[in-house]
Amino acid sequence: MRGKSILLIIGGGIAAYKSLELIRLLAQRGMTCRAILTRAGAEFVTPLSVASLTGETVHQDLFSLTDEAAMGHIALSRSADLVVVAPATADLMAKMANGLANDLASTALLATDKAVLMAPAMNVRMWQSPSVQRNAETLKRDGVRFAGPNDVERSGGECGPGRMAQPAEIAAAIERALAVKGPLAGRKALVTAGPTYEPVDPVRFLANQSSGRQGYAIAGALAAAGADTTLVSGPVSLAPPPGVALARVTTAREMLAACEAALPADVLVMAAAVADWRPDSIAGSKIKKTTDRVVPLIRLVENPDILATLAAHAQRPRLVIGFAAETDNVVQNAIAKRARKGADWILANDVSGDVMGGERNRVHLVNETGVEDWPDMTKQEVGARLAARIAEKLKGAA
Ligand code: CTP
Repeated sequence: MRGKSILLIIGGGIAAYKSLELIRLLAQRGMTCRAILTRAGAEFVTPLSVASLTGETVHQDLFSLTDEAAMGHIALSRSADLVVVAPATADLMAKMANGLANDLASTALLATDKAVLMAPAMNVRMWQSPSVQRNAETLKRDGVRFAGPNDVERSGGECGPGRMAQPAEIAAAIERALAVKGPLAGRKALVTAGPTYEPVDPVRFLANQSSGRQGYAIAGALAAAGADTTLVSGPVSLAPPPGVALARVTTAREMLAACEAALPADVLVMAAAVADWRPDSIAGSKIKKTTDRVVPLIRLVENPDILATLAAHAQRPRLVIGFAAETDNVVQNAIAKRARKGADWILANDVSGDVMGGERNRVHLVNETGVEDWPDMTKQEVGARLAARIAEKLKGAA
């Protein structure tokens, strides 16, 4: 758990004091903690005690100019590996279950791209009320995890669930939520996606047609299968899939350098549409039309072949997978490309239709044993099927 970070949302309730102990337990386990303290939470614990324990600024206000300038509320919501709400009040649960966002805590809960763990704390009758139970069910269906509530054992008073789980129980639930599971847990994956842009002058570039969708879907599927996934992406307008480390690049040479920096890896998937050539020099200012209408001559030089370079690298990934974008003789060209580039597998696709930029793909997997024709499916489905095949191949490998 060392190095993991938690965004702790402290809601209003007498149990808020236990969150201070939770921060201490997380620190003992090597985790760092950033906190959002709601207005009601600040009635029970002071911002100063939370700041002293976390060693960080405590975030309290959605409309704080200073906080927003230092770290915007969207960035804050995504800055940790896990969001923990403790104590989770009926109000915070209701807001998240119903999509309300009228303060910093509820906005962060809706904007986050990370898993959420709630430790509810409230009066027994409140917890048992139909509306709170309905909201708890909705949240569970939406993937929110829960720690507690535990039973209240008060002699003479109300008995039943409502007491916040003990800090040690919440810390254990946090560890369970952060434990990486899946068939590719412990594996490192490197994926490239999108085109590369090769500048001609300050306003023009050469590029390949590519939306990046297939590569992003593959990176998302590998991360979902538990792989520690780095996505090296050329210029595209897609959001990175959850749990994927994104490195943005522009040119083929930058892509190669970013890939080499991400080694070692167990598997490489080169889905990027790398520009084969680049202008041998970049004009310092915009190339102008001339009055005699002589068109400029742009001399091209070959870009490095990233796939071939990494397939022959001293730190060669155990499984090297390339794509073959073909318009003719799809499978024959892919078989030749596999041998030429030293790849283990090639996913060949016919790009004469609307594959580029589209949602679907039809590929043929060329490997050491032959050719498999995969049916037409979405790019997400291709990603999931490829991730499953990769997990099968790497199973048992040291
Ligand atoms: N590729 C690469 N570096 C390049 C060109 C391509 O790593 N400079 C990778 C692509 O990411 C893909 C595979 O090589 O995984 C095949 O790309 P493709 O464009 O189909 O092949 P090319 O090498 O460009 O060959 P050709 O243009 O002759 O078909």
